[in-house]
Amino acid sequence: MAETNRVWRLERYPQGQDFAGAMRLDDSPLPQIGARELLVRNLWFSLDAGTRMWFTPRTDSYMPPLPLGSPVMGFVLGQIVQSRHPDHPEGAIVRAYGQWADYSRLAPDAGNIWQVPQIADMRQHFAVLGPNGWTAYVGLNDYGKARPGETVLVSAAAGATGLLAAQFAKASGCRVIGIAGGAAKCARLLADFGLDAAIDYKGEDVATRLAHLAPEGIDVYFDCVGGPMLDAVLPNMALYGRIAICGLIATYDREERIGPSQFDLILMKRLTVAGFFSPDFYGRGEAINRLTRPWLDSGRVSMAFDVTHGVENTLVAYAKMFTGANFGKTMVKLAE
Ligand SMILES: NC(=O)c1ccc[n+]([C@@H]2O[C@H](COP(=O)([O-])OP(=O)(O)OC[C@H]3O[C@@H](n4cnc5c(N)ncnc54)[C@H](OP(=O)(O)O)[C@@H]3O)[C@@H](O)[C@H]2O)c1
Repeated sequence: MAETNRVWRLERYPQGQDFAGAMRLDDSPLPQIGARELLVRNLWFSLDAGTRMWFTPRTDSYMPPLPLGSPVMGFVLGQIVQSRHPDHPEGAIVRAYGQWADYSRLAPDAGNIWQVPQIADMRQHFAVLGPNGWTAYVGLNDYGKARPGETVLVSAAAGATGLLAAQFAKASGCRVIGIAGGAAKCARLLADFGLDAAIDYKGEDVATRLAHLAPEGIDVYFDCVGGPMLDAVLPNMALYGRIAICGLIATYDREERIGPSQFDLILMKRLTVAGFFSPDFYGRGEAINRLTRPWLDSGRVSMAFDVTHGVENTLVAYAKMFTGANFGKTMVKLAE
């Protein structure tokens, strides 16, 4: 085992996408674990765009701000190398809220730790069979109430959560339109992931294209973006449509709050708009996996992985989600 632990620490809250100006990689001693704690050697980081909200001082978010000076928190997949907890033996593989570091110190009694089985591609524990999959499934079904034959629109459709929401909707018999940045991403959504249509929001007018592609209106909008994208979608919603607010990535690095400019359309079209956060339903993860695992095993649903190697390159990988340089699930590989 190494004697030092490279740890990303939050020094200040980032301005915009200047993550390098806000976080520092330092050499720390290997953490000493206490009673009922674990030391985990991190094998993978799952990078999640929503964690950008933890790196702000705002206190009314779904998670408290990460205190300055702290190790940066994030989802990790790793192997337990020291255990002082009876339920978590050394050698087991866990998915957990850990630290962006070579090693994570974990306290299982605080929750958000799952022992995961060996499967052909362990990255799927962060994709179809993990929090992104649970978010996509619950957003689409519990909040979007998507039914077979309906038209479902997904923004950030070439990202981890959106790609799963789009494929789950297809697998459930819906017609699916994705929105993504760039013609190449859109072409891949059609060719490799079976979407019915795709809109390049960087090169096309979203509202105009939607009016053409869905003249009867969008029944369900799985929104990962918010901001101007939501403004373009609202006039194109069907009567009694549902909008599942999954995320607002267009606004995470802004201080001002941006609301829909055509709020009145929610009334005129009798829309249902609901926000949701996955930690509220982590307890349903295994049950959701039993429903989605057959789609993964049969190849009906898949994931593209955008992998960066080395703990030192974490911030480069993280920034990709905010510039759109990623396709699919963004991960950092630390070790075999
Ligand atoms: N509610 C929950 O519990 C929950 C859970 C997981 C994720 N989320 C939310 O889901 C969204 C996606 O998260 P993720 O972790 O899966 O990341 P991701 O989709 O893999 O990466 C983010 C994607 O967002 C797109 N994007 C970035 N800035 C944009 C902008 N200004 N306008 C339009 N698109 C933009 C980029 O693709 P383009 O090339 O297409 O721009 C990028 O690929 C985030 O809003 C996140 O907060 C919510």
